[in-house]
Amino acid sequence: MTLVIVVGTQWGDEGKGRIVDLLAAEAAVVARYNGGDNAGHTVTVGSQTFKLHLLPAGLIHPHTFGVLGNGMVVNPISLLKEMEMLRAFGIVVDPERLMISYAAHLITPGHKALDAAQERARGAGQIGTTGRGIGPAYTDKAARRGLRLLDMLDPVAFREKMRTHIREANVQLHAFYHAELLEIEAIAAEFEGYAEVLKPYIGDPGAKISEALAAGKVVLAEGAQGTLLDLDHGTYPFVTSSNPTAPGALTGLGLGMQAQAARVVGVTKSFQTRVGAGPFPTEVHDQAAERLRGSGANPWDEFGTTTGRPRRVGWLDGVLLRYAVRINGLTELVVTKLDVLSGLATIPICTAYRSQGRQLRDLPLGPSDLSPFEPIFDEELPGWQEDLTGARTWADLPVNARGYLGKIAEISGVKVSLVSVGPERDQIVKCED
Ligand code: GDP
Ligand code: IMO
Ligand code: MG
Repeated sequence: MTLVIVVGTQWGDEGKGRIVDLLAAEAAVVARYNGGDNAGHTVTVGSQTFKLHLLPAGLIHPHTFGVLGNGMVVNPISLLKEMEMLRAFGIVVDPERLMISYAAHLITPGHKALDAAQERARGAGQIGTTGRGIGPAYTDKAARRGLRLLDMLDPVAFREKMRTHIREANVQLHAFYHAELLEIEAIAAEFEGYAEVLKPYIGDPGAKISEALAAGKVVLAEGAQGTLLDLDHGTYPFVTSSNPTAPGALTGLGLGMQAQAARVVGVTKSFQTRVGAGPFPTEVHDQAAERLRGSGANPWDEFGTTTGRPRRVGWLDGVLLRYAVRINGLTELVVTKLDVLSGLATIPICTAYRSQGRQLRDLPLGPSDLSPFEPIFDEELPGWQEDLTGARTWADLPVNARGYLGKIAEISGVKVSLVSVGPERDQIVKCED
């Protein structure tokens, strides 16, 4: 049984896609278990750059079988577009290569319209959602009125459910938000077409994954978003509406406790970023921010893969990292973008918070309200000037870069197994103790 779960330890965009691509070389099954096309995972292979939103990033390896789990919300329009995108790269995602859980929920134009209208209505209190209809789709799921992939298997009943759903969305759009109404019949007919195309993909991946695990194969569960965006464990209400944390892989794929993850890999950027609103204790502004964010000239500069928004940036937050280790049960950390820190004289790292004159190493009430806390950067580690992008072994890393990784391991209490020094497949260094 080799279940490997990859999660983001921060607010998303840690470089999970790039690390999943690396680990997928050994995996038979690659599975997304949460979220939808709010995710944006960039994978660079030579001259090719893949931007994946819904499909598992591990599908780029031709030997893998992909799964979209029951914990997901699936917009068929985005899904079909993404399949086309991969086809242009010569990757054919047919039912031989992909199964979608019958219990995954659909995202419709009704959900997208409500997402936009609700954000507008929040005014200054906006969450800064990706506008993909994620919140409203999970709302319908929890309210037990959602549309599932299973519903697509009965065209007559599906059309009726779609009509009811769009009608209800229109009532809300009109009454609460004075927003434009949606065309019920046109959408119902459009979705009937998607049902026809997606039918052969619908199945029960939980059974398939359990079988693969029993046969000793590696199953890679790919978390989207990150720990601090988790609906239950993140910076609520500035979160997404799913459970990106590692236990979400079990509920989101239909696996039981016997699946026992062999590795729970936390991907952490060497600094901290966030796109959208919400608390961010170690955030920096002005010149320091521009230095970490980049100008947009490099493809990896901190601008959203899904929305193109500039990401907020700051120094690595050790308190939140320790929290991510605990909530996910991380067995190891993978640090990405260490190359971006080259050239800094010192690198501040937050080891604790201060509140009312007291020093805290952990969060008394989780990360929901971080406003009372002031980060303590008492460890200004010396930086390094060398370019790291050519580093391939531990010995290639400057001593101060190794010191920074050692500090991350010390603060978090888990080993750093790998460090990434660029977006390419081979820009990776295996860490030594
Ligand atoms: P994800 O959502 O966690 O998969 O991360 P994103 O793909 O949204 O953002 C990470 C960005 O950083 C992408 O453009 C990656 O190609 C890039 N990237 C990943 N690892 C590294 C690294 O070690 N160094 C550099 N310079 N870029 C990286
Ligand atoms: P990946 O998988 C970064 C953020 C949004 C917003 C909040 C809620 O690429 O790491 P939503 O549309 O989910 O209702 O928005 O969550 N968000 C992400 N931020 N990376 C992501 O995915 C994100 N997915 C959602 O910016 O703050
Ligand atoms: Mg991303």
